[in-house]
Amino acid sequence: MKPVKVGLMGLGTVGTGVVRIVEGHQADLQSQVASPIEIAKILVKDASKSRSVAIDPSKLTEDPWELVRDGEIDIIVEVMGGVGATKELLLEALERGKHIVTANKDLMALHGQEILAKAKEKGCDVFYEASVAGGIPIIRTLIEGFSSDRITKIMGIVNGTTNYILTKMSQEGADYQDVLKEAQALGYAEADPTSDVEGLDAARKMTILSTLGFRANVALDDVDVRGISAVTQEDIRYAHQLGCEIKLLGIAERQDDFISVSVQPTLVRRSHPIASVNGVFNAVYVHGEAVGETMFYGPGAGEMPTATSIVADLVAVVKNMKLGVNGRQASLSYKEKKLKTDEQ
Ligand code: NDP
Ligand code: HSE
Repeated sequence: MKPVKVGLMGLGTVGTGVVRIVEGHQADLQSQVASPIEIAKILVKDASKSRSVAIDPSKLTEDPWELVRDGEIDIIVEVMGGVGATKELLLEALERGKHIVTANKDLMALHGQEILAKAKEKGCDVFYEASVAGGIPIIRTLIEGFSSDRITKIMGIVNGTTNYILTKMSQEGADYQDVLKEAQALGYAEADPTSDVEGLDAARKMTILSTLGFRANVALDDVDVRGISAVTQEDIRYAHQLGCEIKLLGIAERQDDFISVSVQPTLVRRSHPIASVNGVFNAVYVHGEAVGETMFYGPGAGEMPTATSIVADLVAVVKNMKLGVNGRQASLSYKEKKLKTDEQ
């Protein structure tokens, strides 16, 4: 059976998890898509670096265009980060008919419309489940699960690093800078953790969630952002005296045609379920006119949870390729159609 070939851009925290899952769950994946999935090439910054997974060195390249130009590669999995140069690479990959799976919220929040428009023009998929809330399948939930409803509010903790810091400050009286270093060592933080602690990462995720949930074009510039860098132990003590925890909340609301989106440290009563979302965990509340209140909870960052979302997107793309269709809804029809294997 001819394998589906994947070009992996990035072999850091998330890329390593992708390799582990594609290799470790290969039989399960094959049983779902009727083809082996092969990571054929891997783009890194430094090919001589030692890696925590065994990699055939001939698969590594430091040339970003090698994966894009390779006519054998069907799908690009982008887990290296960056905006400008990464956008150019992905647009060219789409131009050449390659599908994209990405964890890059910076890119999708800023240039998602342009990338999705190019994908549509070329008949390609761009899936980005891992870009928001790590291992929680919130994007497919908003697109598919709530297609019947009108969502009025999306609220939650969408940054693992800051929730990890606030939890340790609250429960252990830990020092902000020390816990930030821990979060970096655990692979939760962004390459530049300023975007975590100043709320930008959460703002990018809220831009994506509100664009999808409200079926509107929400711009990153429209999000009111405040991070946690000014939160002190004294603030946390006062919060405790009031029976509250401080959480960095993203809040997106729609009233008629008016949408407001913000990210800010917020006092949350201890009796509210969101107050007990601790450590790297995220939680997203979605309120719909018909469904009412729903909540989604799970690990928001880290190697294996994020890679789970990436590989689930990979499976969806391969199913679509086999069916000759695109998009999230299209992949749902998979079970009802006869799967076209490469042997037919
Ligand atoms: P890392 O910094 O751990 O890994 C980045 C990888 O990309 C490295 O392998 C690096 O190569 C490679 N790389 C970076 N820049 C270049 C370049 N210019 N050319 C070639 N290779 C490059 O990042 P993460 O795995 O943590 O994150 C990757 C993406 O996933 C980011 O967009 C991030 O926002 C997103 N994300 C991360 C999550 C997490 O929990 N970490 C969760 C959800 C999304 P080398 O190894 O040689 O240095
Ligand atoms: N830095 C991000 C976080 C990674 O801490 O939530 C997951 O998107």
